[in-house]
Order: sequence, then structure tokens, then C-alpha cells
Amino acid sequence: MNTVLVGAQWGDEGKGKIIDILTEHADFVVRYQGGNNAGHTVVVKDKKYIFHLLPSGILHPGKICCIGNGVVIDPAVLLEEISSLIDTGISVKGRLKISPLAHVIMPYHKILDQLKEDKRANKIGTTNRGIGPCYADKINRCGIRVVDLLNPKLFAYKLEDNLKEKNEIFKKVYHHPGFSYAQIRRQYLEFGKKLTPFISPVHTELQEANRCGKNILFEGAQGTFLDIDFGTYPFVTSSSTTAGGACTGSGLSPAAMNKVIGVAKAYTTRVGEGPFPTEFDLTFGKFMREKGKEFGATTGRPRRCGWFDCLMVKEAVALNGITEIALTKMDILDGLKEISVCMGYKYKGKIFKSFPADLTVIKEAKPVYKKVAGWPGKSCRVNQLKDMPMQARSYLKYIEDNVGARISLVSVGSGREETIFLD
Ligand code: GDP
Ligand code: IMO
Ligand code: MG
Repeated sequence: MNTVLVGAQWGDEGKGKIIDILTEHADFVVRYQGGNNAGHTVVVKDKKYIFHLLPSGILHPGKICCIGNGVVIDPAVLLEEISSLIDTGISVKGRLKISPLAHVIMPYHKILDQLKEDKRANKIGTTNRGIGPCYADKINRCGIRVVDLLNPKLFAYKLEDNLKEKNEIFKKVYHHPGFSYAQIRRQYLEFGKKLTPFISPVHTELQEANRCGKNILFEGAQGTFLDIDFGTYPFVTSSSTTAGGACTGSGLSPAAMNKVIGVAKAYTTRVGEGPFPTEFDLTFGKFMREKGKEFGATTGRPRRCGWFDCLMVKEAVALNGITEIALTKMDILDGLKEISVCMGYKYKGKIFKSFPADLTVIKEAKPVYKKVAGWPGKSCRVNQLKDMPMQARSYLKYIEDNVGARISLVSVGSGREETIFLD
């Protein structure tokens, strides 16, 4: 059984927690897109781990964790993540595999990300990790791949070629001094040496594992509405965050995928700029941000908060082929008198019942809400659905009916055990 797990909103839905739980039934866990713009939190016995590049299944001994070709890797961040995990007594030896085809985030990508963002009139609010510029080089066919770090001659040639053009852009466009060839060359060849024990042809290994009937779990990063094609462009990330990305980013064919799980929060959050129809007003937004501890796991930035949007999640169900929903942070809605659910967008007298493609509509539309009853404080922190207040169960049923996929799991806290499985 091969499962793809994706975020159904704008990221930070709680994918890390759900991957950690599902890893119990998996043999392989695979990151297939994005890079260290991701911050996936796993809480085990009150200890909090935040993974940026390592798959969130890594805490389970014996499970093979892969970083696929579709990921962009900042070697310094990855090596740091590996060493801090080793410091906590968790071994990655023999079970961390990095695709030689994955692209490498270079120092100039990170600076370019910042300089481009500073210059933009309509800021995206990127994580400044160099993600966009690295993917741009990949598509532009001048990127540097993990395999290149193992070939000093080829690496030197590629680096020189890149710096020739980039240093000119840095100087002329951004009045930045640019980068030293010798320093980067030395540093990145050293990274190559350190990563060598982990480099392995992930795509062929996954194909072989699939042939042998192993269970492979694909860990999406970001969320459906940050997808380069289907997200709220240009306020998106630079990769395919939707389920199709799992195939192109890992080398396993669509025919091998059996199940798609969409992770959605019981409300909505977004970090960075871009339209957000159901966003709360300032005061309630601040209240919910504190209540839900909505601060970025990667950048620490405050997350914007809003009501659950059925149009968005219904669109995510369609785009990803979501068969099941894992609904997280249900406990954060505890104690609210009334809860709103967005059922449509009103724009120029017209009601949209499905997520519009036009950014202007998304930006200017007024949400049409259905108000449902809330439930008393702390009452969702239970172990079984039957112990949840009736209003909370109705809320879940209402969401299922309106997004077109069943909820198979409800999360009511950050810990592993704070999870309710539905049949
Ligand atoms: P990801 O990027 O999708 O993995 O999500 P993040 O880790 O960035 O953000 C989710 C945050 O919510 C983390 O701090 C989790 O520990 C926390 N979390 C996940 N599920 C729940 C839940 O059901 N209830 C509460 N209160 N916190 C949760
Ligand atoms: P996880 O995997 C939430 C957002 C950034 C910005 C936009 C583009 O933890 O859910 P980028 O640096 O990717 O070029 O930034 O995308 N963004 C995320 N928002 N969760 C994430 O990852 C994100 N990764 C990128 O805030 O708006
Ligand atoms: Mg996150």
C-alpha cells in the first residue's frame, strides 16, 4: 500500500504529526518536493522535533527515510539536522537515503531569494531559504545536483559557469559584491564528502521496494494552495505540492499509488503574503493565534488565521484525489460559542461554490458563511469520537459532507496519543 500525504490548505496543517503516526505501518517514508522551507513538527513524550529536510518518519527505528529527486537540499541544513538527531541518540545510518538527482541550494540562491523579495512591490513573504532561485536554476538547466558534489571537476565547471552570470547580476542589479568561487568550491565539495554515505539511487530503490510489496509513505511539504500551478499564484512556493509531485519527485509511477490522505486543520492558517478569504479580523486573529500557538516552525513568523474554507478543501480533494482527510487541531476550536464554515464566495453579486482560478476574485470575494454551534472548553481532548460533544461531531460531519471526502482521523493535540482513528 503506497500512500501520498498532502497538505490540503496553505501548509502547516500538521503533516509532520500525521506522518509520524502513519510511519508505524510504512517501510519507507519519502520527501519528494520542497526543501527546508518546510517545518514539520513531531511531538513524542513531550519532546518536540522539527524536521525541515529529514522525513518525519525518521524517529521510528528501522524505517527507511528517503529524500527524493524533487527536493531541493541545503547541505549545511541537512548535515546539521542529521547531527542533532544523532546527538539525541537516534541513528540514521543505513536508513537515510538521498537522491543524487536532487538539486542543491547554493549560497547565491539564499541571497538572491532575499534580494528579489526586497525588490518586489508585491511581496510573497518567502522563507528566504533559496527555494525559488534553486528551482529556477533547475528548470533553467543550470542547477547543481547532489551527484555533482561528488565530481570535483564537473562541480568546479558548473560553479564557475553559474558564478560568472550570477555575480554579474548581483553587482549590476542588486549592488551586492557577489560570491567567491574558491570558498564555495571548498565548502560544497566538503559537503559532498559528508553526504556520500547517504547518497543512493532513491528512485530505483523505491521501484524495487514497490515490486517487493513494501509500504511507501510519501510526505508532502507545504500545501495544495502553495502549489506552483494550482496555488494562489504568485503567492505560492516553487514546487508541485499536489499529489502528482510525489511521482515526479520520487520516480515512482502514478500506477503505484494507492491512497491519498489530505491533512487539513479544523480552521485555516497561512504564513506569508497572499489572499486569504476567511481570514479573521485583527483581534480574533490574535486570540486564535495564541490559542493555536500559530507561529511558524521554520521562521517563527506569526501565522494568519481564519475559518475553515470548504471551497478550498473541496478543491484540494479534487486536485489531489484525496480519499481520506486527517483533520487536525480540533481541540483549538474548543470553547468557541459559534463557529463559521465558508460555503461560498460572493463576488460582484455572483456566488462562487467552487474555488475560483482568478486571484482577483479570491482577493476581493466575501466569504459566505454557515454558522454552526460551538462546544464547551477542553471537550475535544478525548480518545474516542463518541466522547466528543455532539456539536463537534456535527462539525466533522458537516465538513465531510461539504468537501466530499471522509475524515479518517481527528487530531486533538500535538502528541502521538492525542489522535482519534475513525473507521
Ligand atoms: P506541518 O508543517 O504540516 O507539519 O505542521 P507544523 O508542524 O508546521 O504545524 C503544526 C503545529 O500544530 C505543530 O506545532 C504541531 O505540534 C501542532 N499540532 C498538530 N496537530 C495538533 C492538534 O491536533 N492539536 C494541537 N493543539 N496541536 C497540533
Ligand atoms: P510546511 O511543509 C507554510 C510559504 C511561505 C511563502 C511561500 C513561498 O511546513 O507546511 P518559499 O520560501 O517556499 O519560496 O515561500 O510559501 N511556505 C510555507 N507556508 N508552511 C510551509 O511548509 C511553507 N513553505 C513555504 O511562507 O508564503
Ligand atoms: Mg510547517
